[in-house]
Amino acid sequence: MKNENIYILGIESSCDDTSAAILCNDTILSNVVADQKIHAEYGGVVPELASRAHQQNIVPVVHQAIKKAGISKRQLNAIAFTSGPGLMGSLLVGTSFAKSLALGLNIPLIDVNHMQAHILAHFIEEDGHNKPPFPFLALTISGGHTQIVKVKNYFDMEVLGETIDDAVGEAYDKSGKLLGLGYPAGPEIDKRAQIGNPKAFKFTKPKVDGLNFSFSGLKTAILYFVQRETKANPDFIKKNLNDICASIQYTIVGILMDKLKQAVKQTGITHIAIGGGVSANSGIREALKSAEQKHGWKTYIPKFEYTTDNAAMIAIVGYLKYLEKDFSDFDVMAKARLKI
Ligand code: KG4
Ligand code: ZN
Repeated sequence: MKNENIYILGIESSCDDTSAAILCNDTILSNVVADQKIHAEYGGVVPELASRAHQQNIVPVVHQAIKKAGISKRQLNAIAFTSGPGLMGSLLVGTSFAKSLALGLNIPLIDVNHMQAHILAHFIEEDGHNKPPFPFLALTISGGHTQIVKVKNYFDMEVLGETIDDAVGEAYDKSGKLLGLGYPAGPEIDKRAQIGNPKAFKFTKPKVDGLNFSFSGLKTAILYFVQRETKANPDFIKKNLNDICASIQYTIVGILMDKLKQAVKQTGITHIAIGGGVSANSGIREALKSAEQKHGWKTYIPKFEYTTDNAAMIAIVGYLKYLEKDFSDFDVMAKARLKI
């Protein structure tokens, strides 16, 4: 019997990135992402504009992914798409497109949970990337999510803690807005933090039970701090921007690391995998590296391309579900609020 290659098309449209990827087994052949610059003018994602942009992007993005992969759409074995969680109008574009194409090609449809996909992105075959062994802890940190998940197996996951208000990326972006930085502000705060003094200003860490997070108090603390200081000195932000950024980053990384340490203590699991756009942050990367030395943890950081929202992570979940013949009915619905 010939060893058959499985080709999966993954489609992601949960927020403001339209993405399509082709996987051959667990190896990526293409991963095309069209981001939406339009939201920068508004300082955050505007749902109605996001869904319109998905409608414009989806056909060319899927077409390009298939072309780049060097296959024909007739070779596809299944189509995997994000069914939630995310913005309803955005999810509907990917969901309807995936259904129509799967029906047209007469191949199985596979619905994928976006949060599981951020975690399972670690199972994409990639030179130099070690796959985490089960059980491991996953920390997903992005503009839309902040979770600590105990991953017992591919589809056996338990959320140990999550944010009760803002996501960590939102904390970066909203703090940046208060400082007059562009959207998204995370990368610039990170850049400035590296040349600033992290102990220049002190922001109190929130007290939240268990492994849950809260970031909205920090945003308010920064707002009052900036209002007070600029009243006394209108040039305060300009003169101290790098130190303010470093102090914010120090506080945020501290909050994340405190909860991770607590999760390790609670579970005895020392394999930690991170994902989501904020995992690009230099502060969190350094803190994880030093925890490897200090506490004997083993940390896993996927290639940046697979940590932000992308369809490669949707396709790998599609592949894992395909092996289990875990297909969806064609009446499957998009769900804005979908739990792991
Ligand atoms: O995963 P992602 O691309 O999209 C979702 O939000 O799902 O994450 C984007 C978030 C934004 O909030 C952005 O400010 C943040 O990730 N981000 C960073 C860094 N790079 C991106 N935050 C802190 N430091 C960074 N280097
Ligand atoms: Zn995401």
